[in-house]
Order: sequence, then C-alpha cells, then structure tokens
Amino acid sequence: MDTTVLFNMSYGLYIIGAKDGKRNVGCLVNTVTQSTSNPVTVTVCINKDNYTNDCIKKTKEFTVSILSEKTKENIFGIFGFSSSRDKDKFVQVPFGLTPSGLPYINEGITGYMQCKVINFVDNFTHTIFIAQVQEAENLFKEPPMTYAYYRSVIKGKTQKNAPTHVNESEKTDIAKKVYVCSVCGYEYPSSTDEFEQLSNDYACPICEAPKNKFKLNLKNSSSQ
Ligand SMILES: Cc1cc2nc3c(=O)[nH]c(=O)nc-3n(C[C@H](O)[C@H](O)[C@H](O)COP(=O)(O)O)c2cc1C
Repeated sequence: MDTTVLFNMSYGLYIIGAKDGKRNVGCLVNTVTQSTSNPVTVTVCINKDNYTNDCIKKTKEFTVSILSEKTKENIFGIFGFSSSRDKDKFVQVPFGLTPSGLPYINEGITGYMQCKVINFVDNFTHTIFIAQVQEAENLFKEPPMTYAYYRSVIKGKTQKNAPTHVNESEKTDIAKKVYVCSVCGYEYPSSTDEFEQLSNDYACPICEAPKNKFKLNLKNSSSQ
C-alpha cells in the first residue's frame, strides 16, 4: 500500500475547546468535517491519549475555532505539542467564552462553533465524536488555514497523536542534515551553518523552545 496517497488529502486546522470542571482545555486538530446540514453536524477525531478526549467524553460538549492564515505561530506549539493535563493553554492566548462558558480562540480565526456530542465511535487509537452544532459565529474575514499551508508556508510538522502522523522510519529517500526542534519538530529552513551562527536567544518560531533544544538530524526529502 502506498500511504503517500494520503498526503494529497485536504484538511483545515482547528482548535477544539472544552471544559475540565472550571478549567479550560483544548488541542489542535485537523480532523473536523461537516457531516450533515439538517441538522448541522460535524465530526472530529481525537486521540484517546489526548486530555481533551477525556474531557469531551465527560461533558459531551466542545467548541471548534477555525484557524486562519493570520494565526500566530505559537498557537501550534501551545495547542498541538503540549497537554492540557499539565497546563492551562488558554491563558497564553486571546480567548472568549460562549454563553454556556466554553472557551474559543478569538484571534487568528475565521469564526467558531459550539457543538453538542450526540454520539461517538471507538476508532482504534482515536475516538470519532459526532456532534450537533448549536451556535456558530463568523468573526474575521481571513482565508482559513489549510494543512497544506501549515506544512508549506509555516513549515509546521504533524504530531504523534494526529491521525495523519507518519513515522519518520517509514519514509525512504535521500537524507540531508538539518536542525530540528526536539519539542515540536520544526525544521530550521536554511543551512546548518546559518543555524549555528544564530544568537543564543533564538527561539523556535512554532513552539518557542530555546535554541539548545534543536538537534542535528537527517532529513528525508519526502518529509511531510
Ligand atoms: C498539525 C497537527 C494536527 C493535529 N491533529 C490532531 C487530530 O486531528 N486529532 C488528535 O487527536 N490530535 C491531533 N494533533 C495532536 C494534538 O494537538 C496534541 O496531541 C495535543 O498535545 C493534545 O493536547 P491535550 O492533551 O491537551 O488534549 C495534531 C497536532 C498537530 C501539530
């Protein structure tokens, strides 16, 4: 099976917001899709190891903030590469609360939805939540961020809990040396010489990890 076929599927990027008691929790996903229009329902596929999954199973509700191309890069590090188990991610970003108190991002998005879970399906490593959209608001007229834009313009990476994650060991191709952020997987786009000359206060543009968190790796030219 040639799994590179899957690289040509299109996705958007979204922040799922939920509640853990009074605390706000959430994560970055690429797997929100509309399923029906009457009533309006969506699905989202969330890894069972993600804390957001536990919280949605308990509360049966969540928000979807639709990221735009204006999204600040630190959103990916905060929501995609760390867990709400350990910290309150929303205190680090501008956010609002829906009338029922669920958190959504209110900068760098096109709009948001509030959703009520009506069913969920166990899908190996992930849970597919089926939810009815209860409220929706358009906030900013910006192009929505696609996964392709995240990969090609932001130079962002997938994370092991994303359904679209591909093991580096499964890829074959010619390798070259590159500095890679050990926290989020961001690859410094220019030469290793240029990276070494950067000042020590250089920080990863995706997750803000310091320069000393970058490791010299071999990169396959087929990397997604
Ligand atoms: C680009 C990108 C896309 C992702 N898509 C998904 C997804 O669709 N489903 C999922 O479960 N995790 C996805 N993740 C991983 C979660 O965002 C990540 O595991 C997060 O740290 C979970 O946080 P939590 O423990 O607070 O829920 C993605 C990560 C990245 C960087």
